Amino acid sequence: MDLQSDWYPIALADDLEPGGVVGTRLFDAEIVLWRDADRVSHVWEDRCPHRGMRLSFGFMRDNRLGCLYHGWMFDGACQCRAIPAHPEMAVPKAIRARAYASTEGVAGMVWASLADEAAEPPRVEATGAMPVRSLFIECPPDQVRAALAEAVPPPFAAPAETPLALSWPAVGLALFARGDERLLVGVQPLSATQTALHLAVAGAPEIYRGAGQAHFARWGEALRRRLETPVAP
Ligand code: FES
Repeated sequence: MDLQSDWYPIALADDLEPGGVVGTRLFDAEIVLWRDADRVSHVWEDRCPHRGMRLSFGFMRDNRLGCLYHGWMFDGACQCRAIPAHPEMAVPKAIRARAYASTEGVAGMVWASLADEAAEPPRVEATGAMPVRSLFIECPPDQVRAALAEAVPPPFAAPAETPLALSWPAVGLALFARGDERLLVGVQPLSATQTALHLAVAGAPEIYRGAGQAHFARWGEALRRRLETPVAP
């Protein structure tokens, strides 16, 4: 499987409320991510099959995603169900949005693959992952991955002397483990020059919720500042 066909996190699952519609990218592919009223997330090409308007500019109505331009309405299975200019017309089955393979729940993130026939999504041992924050960085994905390979996130609750171990359970996920403390960093290649990181922490909620989340959010922000600071010649 080539790198661009693999699975990548594209959002923190908790950041997308029912009715939410957001645009994002993966290797320059424009993506719309939306969550329906039944809390099911959908990951589609960000392009209306009518005239190509971005569906991420659209709106939700009656648990369907509507295109802002002429109001065509798409159900959760990508099928166009209504064309306002022709209310009496039976909408042809061929009028569909294009879905990408997606899943959510793995490490508390929404994942997508651009592959026509996607492999099985990654499995990650990180139950109870709590969202920390997403960061958008003006830095190539390879440089971000290299910086993560060298990074030493400071512990929150784990004793400082506990050894830190970094593993990559998926090509788009770095897992920092220090005893029972787990910091998950999803790496989303937006383009050749931009990267998004999605941070989550796995551990006892009574320990990590609030101050622990803020602790790792500050580390992520510091990492972004460092990566975006030009190196002196
Ligand atoms: S471009 Fe989407 S409905 Fe016309």
